Amino acid sequence: MTWMHERVWMVKLLGVWAVAGMLMAPCALGQQAKTQKLAPYYPTPHSVVEKMLEMAEVKASDTVYDLGSGDGRIVVAAAEKFGATAVGVEFDESLVTQSRMTIKRKGLEQKARIIAGDMMVQDYSPATVVTVYLLPTSNEKMLPILQKQLKPGTRMVCHDFEFHQLTPVKTINVEDDGEGRSHTLFLYVLK
Ligand SMILES: C[S@@+](CC[C@H](N)C(=O)[O-])C[C@H]1O[C@@H](n2cnc3c(N)ncnc32)[C@H](O)[C@@H]1O
Repeated sequence: MTWMHERVWMVKLLGVWAVAGMLMAPCALGQQAKTQKLAPYYPTPHSVVEKMLEMAEVKASDTVYDLGSGDGRIVVAAAEKFGATAVGVEFDESLVTQSRMTIKRKGLEQKARIIAGDMMVQDYSPATVVTVYLLPTSNEKMLPILQKQLKPGTRMVCHDFEFHQLTPVKTINVEDDGEGRSHTLFLYVLK
């Protein structure tokens, strides 16, 4: 192959890579854009977790969904202390692994599970209780999804950030979580 032929082939190959890159880039961007981070990981203190579940009067016949379940503490408490069926949705892989390990260590696999994925695209229709600790803008994004899927009578408990479009049936202020921080909890019952 002459020097000229080599140059022609190199230019052709570069062209193919460039076209492939242009085709792949939007796909990669599309993948990234798919899951929106609706809140950073900031766990609810254990004492407040109990208050949230008590406020919703969670019992063994309930199915509790935690939106963005973090280390799984709400899911674990709902199953372990209240006997409910509990499902967490979490997109951070390390938190999914951590929470699944806790569920296994505590022998709660029959009652509790974690869905690894985007909370914006899940099926919440089995829920009778939903717990929410997200940001105000995220609550606004999630509310229409929940209202579309949840049955009337479903209880929703928000930690610190309310659903502005709804009127809570109960609001509780936790003055001290044991570490000197205060929290507000809002209970809603879907009509
Ligand atoms: C403030 S933390 C609350 C954790 C837990 N619910 C609690 O109260 O202890 C919010 C969680 O939502 C998760 N998250 C954020 N955006 C998400 C999304 N689109 N899908 C699933 N999880 C998401 C974060 O990784 C984080 O663990």
